[in-house]
Amino acid sequence: MLRAVLLATLLALPLHAQDGGQLFTLYCSACHGVDGKGATGGQFPPLAGSDWVRGDPARAVKLVLHGLHGEVEVDGRKFNLEMPPQGGVLPDDQIAAILSYARSSWGNKAEAVTADFVKATRAATADRKVPWTQAEILKLHPLPPPAPPIANLISQVYQGEWQKLPDFSKLKAGNIEEEHSGKISIKKAGFTELFGMTWEGDLTAPEAGEYLFRLDADDGARVLLDGKKVAEVTGTGPMDGGRGQDGSIKLEAGVHKIRVEYFEYHGNEGIALAWRNASVPGWKSLSDTSIKGGREPIPLTPQNGRAVVYRNFIEGTTPRGIGIGFPGSVNLVYSADDCAPELIWTGAFMDASRHWTDRGQGNQAPAGENVVKLAGSPAFTGEARFRGYKLDPAGNPTFSVQVGKQFVLDSWKPGTANGAPTLVRTLTTTGGGPLSILIAEKLAVKKEGQATLLGDKLSLQTDHADLESRDGKAFLKLTPGQAATITYSWK
Ligand code: HEC
Repeated sequence: MLRAVLLATLLALPLHAQDGGQLFTLYCSACHGVDGKGATGGQFPPLAGSDWVRGDPARAVKLVLHGLHGEVEVDGRKFNLEMPPQGGVLPDDQIAAILSYARSSWGNKAEAVTADFVKATRAATADRKVPWTQAEILKLHPLPPPAPPIANLISQVYQGEWQKLPDFSKLKAGNIEEEHSGKISIKKAGFTELFGMTWEGDLTAPEAGEYLFRLDADDGARVLLDGKKVAEVTGTGPMDGGRGQDGSIKLEAGVHKIRVEYFEYHGNEGIALAWRNASVPGWKSLSDTSIKGGREPIPLTPQNGRAVVYRNFIEGTTPRGIGIGFPGSVNLVYSADDCAPELIWTGAFMDASRHWTDRGQGNQAPAGENVVKLAGSPAFTGEARFRGYKLDPAGNPTFSVQVGKQFVLDSWKPGTANGAPTLVRTLTTTGGGPLSILIAEKLAVKKEGQATLLGDKLSLQTDHADLESRDGKAFLKLTPGQAATITYSWK
């Protein structure tokens, strides 16, 4: 009798017979992580805090049924991976249970999904045979408007002439506003010179842990959490990333009081603030102006056979270094300041996630092995100007340099020799006369048969040009109209 009742209950409640959490662990966590943050340190997209999981449930149901591929943006980060379809494996009630679980876990708050809804969605999309792309599925089911990042946000405006933050508690506020966007903004200040503003509201930490804050302002600002100062930009000056400050604080899960103070002296004005969980890549903006460098170009590995570009401070080169990670584990940093390739290496390209935690404490070093610093000074003796770069469909760059009236094109692509990776560089110039280009310095230059050895790691082969060495430097003579090729290989 009891068994019959139990059985009847189970049959009557198929939804509750399925534990969404267990099913999630079984079918989704390998990629999205048991904590919903995205497996392998966020290489996969998160479901925690994802707008894709909120709002219209049809979006998530359809992508679980048929899969998702191509570039997608989740929580301000881009991914270009492949989610396999699960419709063949998972029945309607299990999909409903999993999505109900995902929509109510890790800080997500959205209504449950019913098995009937999944059934109807499956029937309506029965002829769908290939995974969705972001464009297709968001056209049918757009992402819900983002939730205001700071709840109950109130701003106050003050007038005065300051070159550092005043004690606002001693001042009388002019204008008090509710900021329904939940974002720090000076749009409603009503002034562009000689004013101050404060904001106060509730910031919810989705889980306990260390949080990082990045603040930048023109002119000064500070951010406090529960009354404790976390970051401060002092003095007056521009908001160009150079004066920006990072700070960190440990927070319990739940709501915290955030207070931001700001003043504007003369000239331009602005404030930008972003935060992130220290263990999850991806800054989240708390202001209507986004912070410089607050977006991460991860994952930083070549994708689908295409080279990847990294623009940020890179150790061992000048500030305007352009990093290129090629398929086949060869990498290059080209300095736009020196119009020269300065670093080449093999193996992993750059670890962007580490860069963001450490910013302010130095540059990001190449992540791989066999790093060779080719040179650290301008490649051309005359006045040379960097004129930008183009990427071909495979992501291979061609850098363009103007030397007087001449243009030099410097193209790079990956290659292989004897099964080992190489970098192949093609240099051309038009018009004018021959040019001498610095290829390497501070590396011992030695001829060995057809090849030239540079230092103890690198071997160069040239076509249609010879390397000449003087004063411990290696140069290549470039003749107008004739392409010169250099192949860099590692020993
Ligand atoms: C084999 C790895 C893998 C599995 C298993 C997997 N996913 Fe995904 N999922 C991905 C990838 C990769 C993307 C992004 C696809 C892209 O880049 O085009 C994604 C995207 C998503 C998205 C939209 C983006 C986001 O992060 O919110 C949702 C929602 C989602 N998956 C839910 C699920 C659910 C629910 C399950 C379990 C039923 C699941 N996934 C199983 C790899 C996987």
